[in-house]
Amino acid sequence: MKMTTTCKATVAAAALVAGAAHAQDVEVLHWWTAGGEAAALNVLKDDLAGQDIGWQDMPVAGGGGTQAMTVLRARVTSGNAPTAVQMLGFDILDWAQEGALANLNPIAEEQNWGEVIPEALQRFSTYEDQWVAAPVNVHSTNWVWADASIMEELGLEQPQTWEDFVAALEAAQEAGYVALAHGGQAWQDATLFDAVLMATGGPEFYQKTMIDLDMEALGSDTMKQVFDRMATLRGFVDDNFSGRDWNLASAMVINDEAAFQMMGDWAKGEFLNAGQTPGEDFLCFRFPGSQDQVLFNSDQFAMFSQGDGVSDEQAALAKAILSPEFQIAFNKVKGSVPARTDLDASELDACGQQGYEEYKAAAESGNLFGSMAHGHANPAAVKNAMYDVITAHFNGEYDSETAVQELQTAVEINAM
Ligand code: BGC
Repeated sequence: MKMTTTCKATVAAAALVAGAAHAQDVEVLHWWTAGGEAAALNVLKDDLAGQDIGWQDMPVAGGGGTQAMTVLRARVTSGNAPTAVQMLGFDILDWAQEGALANLNPIAEEQNWGEVIPEALQRFSTYEDQWVAAPVNVHSTNWVWADASIMEELGLEQPQTWEDFVAALEAAQEAGYVALAHGGQAWQDATLFDAVLMATGGPEFYQKTMIDLDMEALGSDTMKQVFDRMATLRGFVDDNFSGRDWNLASAMVINDEAAFQMMGDWAKGEFLNAGQTPGEDFLCFRFPGSQDQVLFNSDQFAMFSQGDGVSDEQAALAKAILSPEFQIAFNKVKGSVPARTDLDASELDACGQQGYEEYKAAAESGNLFGSMAHGHANPAAVKNAMYDVITAHFNGEYDSETAVQELQTAVEINAM
């Protein structure tokens, strides 16, 4: 029997409705376990519950997702892949290359993803002409979160340069505050490194070192200066920083114990979750020296193939994620900005509106760069090798000169 296009569409729609009536659960592996993250995840859970789709939660704590990726590998190896997985950058491409991800093209076409998701994100959501992941948001790592009352008490203005920032840190330390709230975990050290490198060397240097892995730039005096600045920052963290989770570092600013935190804008989710207001209780600004650049990481959900194409539940999840209402509702809580660039952001708070404008402007002007710390500059092997060097240096195992050499060696060994 030959079917007309309309007839085919009707049959497909009927199948979707029938599928929804007998909806299965989705099992979702993610690392959104901090207060602000969990609150944001509830927006997604509620959306699916409204469509009668159950949610099996598979949280694996650990910012940056390193632990989650280890658990994922074990699950897939034992033939028990979750339905959907929170993933970043090059990890998505790795799984796509292994042929493990469902093809989301039908949903992408229906919702016109190609038109509303910028190229910089599509680079990670698509593989060989197939959409393999649904982008939830855009986070950015080169932010500073400041305690408004401490800044006021100390008469501090928003720092515009590295020197200003160091002076502000010194003032906070002298006044008896923890100057820089930080957690000594490799991914957090690397998050600082992202911003310091961009501010110190500028966008071309970031591109050469973190993305192109240019040996000369990696071994340059500028790179030594980056490590020197990391050592300076190390002097402003408290004695108990080792192993501290990022959200506990945010809490130090929230509780007026610390003046600043350098962290991606998921930190804002913690401030909001604690009832704080940007501009009143806390301030957000780009890491001084990187005001025109946006270092990004985009949380995406990749759907693992369950046999025949994308399942109804996976399709519903992907569709919910890209809906304009969800993109605003979720990102308002999460601290990130929508991945779609066609939305009215007036419902976002001041930092969110600033972030959304900067993201779109940076995408236009070539100032949007993938975050090394969050898997958007290089595959996991290179990223992890860089983590090791950055952390060893931050903990005083290497001086800056040795760190530069170790970084070059790490890249040489691990880059393909
Ligand atoms: C993710 C964020 C998450 C943060 C801390 C980042 O890699 O992109 O969504 O909030 O890690 O867990």
